[in-house]
Amino acid sequence: MRVLVLNGPNLGSLGRREPEVYGSRTLADLESMLAARAAELGIQLHCLQSNHEGQLIDWIEREVVGTDAIIINPGALSHTSLALADALRGSGKPVIEVHISNVFAREPERRQMVTAAAAKAVISGLGFDGYLAALNFVTTLRA
Ligand code: DQA
Repeated sequence: MRVLVLNGPNLGSLGRREPEVYGSRTLADLESMLAARAAELGIQLHCLQSNHEGQLIDWIEREVVGTDAIIINPGALSHTSLALADALRGSGKPVIEVHISNVFAREPERRQMVTAAAAKAVISGLGFDGYLAALNFVTTLRA
């Protein structure tokens, strides 16, 4: 099973960015934690991060062949991007959207969830463990 993990805008700054909200671990820490768990689960993992909406859409379009599921944290694009939602929906793959923070307990504008409408499930507020939960879940989709 092959899983694509996408992180959107500003998630490359994890560790430095608002540590009181997102913690002190970096994107590299997150990706190595996921790689270790994926190895245990027998999942082939492909992790990518971009600050650009179009780049994320290009990757979804390009990488979707041979991918069984997508785990994505779209960052702030979650609240605005119909284009990203369309790409996720158009992939035809099960999508799990992850947020490190509990977006529902933050500013009201973060409660608008645009890309979540294209997801099978949304995990919000579990910190980095949300990605692990998503990874564990996608194994249940294995043919
Ligand atoms: C986030 C929540 C978004 O509202 C925010 O714009 C982010 C990170 C999260 O992981 O909690 O960039 O997606």
